[in-house]
Amino acid sequence: MRTAFPIFLTLMLKTVIHVFCSTLNDVSNLYTTLLQNYNSEVRPGDNQFLPTNVNVTFNLVAIQEFDEVDGKFAVIGFFEVTWVDSRMAWNPLDYNYTYTMLFSQDIVWKPTLLSINPFSKIDQLGKDFMTVRYYHNGFAYWSPGEILSSSCSVDVTYFPFDQQTCFITLMSWGTWPNEILLQSPLTNFKMGFYSEHGTWQISSTSAVDSTSNGMSVINLSVTMERRPAFFVVNIVLPVMFLMALNCCVFILPPESGERVSYSITVLLAIAVFMTLTGDNLPKTSEPMSLLSYFLMSDLVFSAIICLITMLGLRLHFKDDKHTVPSYLKRLVFCCKCLSHVSNKKHTNDVRPFCTDEKIQQFSDINRKDNMATDIDVSWRDVSQALDTILLWISIGGLVISIILFFIILKKLV
Ligand SMILES: *[C@@H]1O[C@H](CO)[C@@H](O)[C@H](O)[C@H]1NC(C)=O
Ligand SMILES: *[C@@H]1O[C@H](CO)[C@@H](O)[C@H](O)[C@H]1NC(C)=O
Ligand SMILES: *[C@@H]1O[C@H](CO)[C@@H](O)[C@H](O)[C@H]1NC(C)=O
Repeated sequence: MRTAFPIFLTLMLKTVIHVFCSTLNDVSNLYTTLLQNYNSEVRPGDNQFLPTNVNVTFNLVAIQEFDEVDGKFAVIGFFEVTWVDSRMAWNPLDYNYTYTMLFSQDIVWKPTLLSINPFSKIDQLGKDFMTVRYYHNGFAYWSPGEILSSSCSVDVTYFPFDQQTCFITLMSWGTWPNEILLQSPLTNFKMGFYSEHGTWQISSTSAVDSTSNGMSVINLSVTMERRPAFFVVNIVLPVMFLMALNCCVFILPPESGERVSYSITVLLAIAVFMTLTGDNLPKTSEPMSLLSYFLMSDLVFSAIICLITMLGLRLHFKDDKHTVPSYLKRLVFCCKCLSHVSNKKHTNDVRPFCTDEKIQQFSDINRKDNMATDIDVSWRDVSQALDTILLWISIGGLVISIILFFIILKKLV
């Protein structure tokens, strides 16, 4: 029983093959007959007043390259080009059921298709080894595969959350629309063989036929979105952490003598990140990436913090022989006693500086609108108070800048 089935199958196949089998002789005959009096220079069509309709669909296989700096866009894919050539029709019964034939592309007529916006050189689609398949009704199927490159204008305003659209325009060289009419039966690409790209995610594709400027063209366009993770992890987040560290310079004790070198180091690190981003972006000023402006503002922010740190140190080490101006005294009191009052509710430990009498004294002075000359506030206290205020201001500035950055770049509003 086990061996019976394969034998039965083989017998079945033999009969089928015998019935629908064309011999070598049949195929050679067909080949010679079809190519007799065939002129591959003459376009198909019994009525040469009507244009030859050529259907073109594009199968996208992969995005090979997208270079923002040079504006080079390259895809790998193949076309499915079909037309009807009545000279290549035959009756399959005359040739023992030969339904289809393959011809080398150079000995038969085919449309001369090429991309008119290539990145480097103009070359027609199709290589010598490619073939055209004919069916017995004259239907021709040709699928030239190609690495198509085009020059693409890059808009990096929203880098790294940007979206790019690149075009590849295909035309039939040297013919008018009333001779060869290119048609796109689908409105987008076929993506059956597509393999994902690491950086770019395709959001839409389109294939549109049109006759513009007296030429029949097919306009292929790809819209793709960048996957931002790489740049967020490698540039945006590190810069934000550096900025947060930069704010912390006001926590560092001034006596350590490290404040200036610390803030200069952070400044330099941000400058390094600016260079890194610059290498990944086109060197044009129009349009500029908002990320570049963000890094620039961070650099300015960092430089201002550096400057303030230096001025703060000057205040901190100022000789107490110089009296502290009254507005600074008031500032110190406000700052210290605000935190004192807010802490008093929760804890019993009263800071030596901010005793209740002092507050009373200070408010008395305020009420009398008298200048606080008799209260001793040292320059150290002034610089401490300023440090607290500046710490909060800089943290506030940082948070606002980060929120603005994401709102603007992700177009949330
Ligand atoms: C071309 O596409 C149109 C629309 O889908 C279809 O009607 C026509 O038969 C196609 N012609 C060829 C030669 O494939
Ligand atoms: C079909 O094939 C058979 C052999 O299998 C051959 O004898 C016959 O002549 C062929 N017919 C034609 C029309 O070529
Ligand atoms: C292709 O189509 C796009 C819009 O989809 C248009 O902006 C572009 O100019 C077209 N290119 C040609 C050559 O027609």
